[in-house]
Amino acid sequence: MRLAVYPGSFDPVTNGHIDILEKTSKIFDKIIVAVVHNVSKKALFTLDERVELIRESTKHLNNIEVECFSGLLANYLRDREACAIIRGLRTVADFEYEMHMAMINKRLIPDVDTIFIMSDSSNIFVSSSIIKEAALLGGDVSELVPEIVKLKLEAKRQETI
Ligand code: COA
Repeated sequence: MRLAVYPGSFDPVTNGHIDILEKTSKIFDKIIVAVVHNVSKKALFTLDERVELIRESTKHLNNIEVECFSGLLANYLRDREACAIIRGLRTVADFEYEMHMAMINKRLIPDVDTIFIMSDSSNIFVSSSIIKEAALLGGDVSELVPEIVKLKLEAKRQETI
């Protein structure tokens, strides 16, 4: 079975991430979306909330699983017997960071390659941080995130008012 892992912080999942999953779900037999706590980022949603939002937003895809992980990605890939890491590329600005991460992961687990998928042009400016900032300040992000994420962002905004 061709199993790929799509790791990230997904705080929260956006239409950009869903686009990558819709494309890659046709290529792999199964994809595990692996939600990680990135220590260098301040999270708005808990890991459990993020997992639930991704599950709700990917119900139309039948080969997606969602779980949390901690520690080294290479170890997680080994445990799950994954053959690939999925990462999305939006613009050239993503490239250098992604290349370095792909190289260290290749060194740590040589059997697994990173597969890069180009984002649709409609999503290249989308990031979780920019969505959070706009939504928490009252901006309309309904075209950029799944409906359930829009509702949860609105609830977080109400908590902060
Ligand atoms: N559409 C929308 N947004 C996208 C996107 C797309 N197609 N592709 C990337 N992004 C955005 C994300 O929303 C995120 O935005 P943010 O910075 O505003 O939160 C940003 O691009 C990239 O974040 P993400 O994809 O979540 O990756 P990350 O840099 O937070 O974490 C991990 C990457 C999880 C893969 C990496 O930290 C990891 O592997 N951690 C485990 C420890 C480890 O093994 N480290 C590496 C070896 S030492």
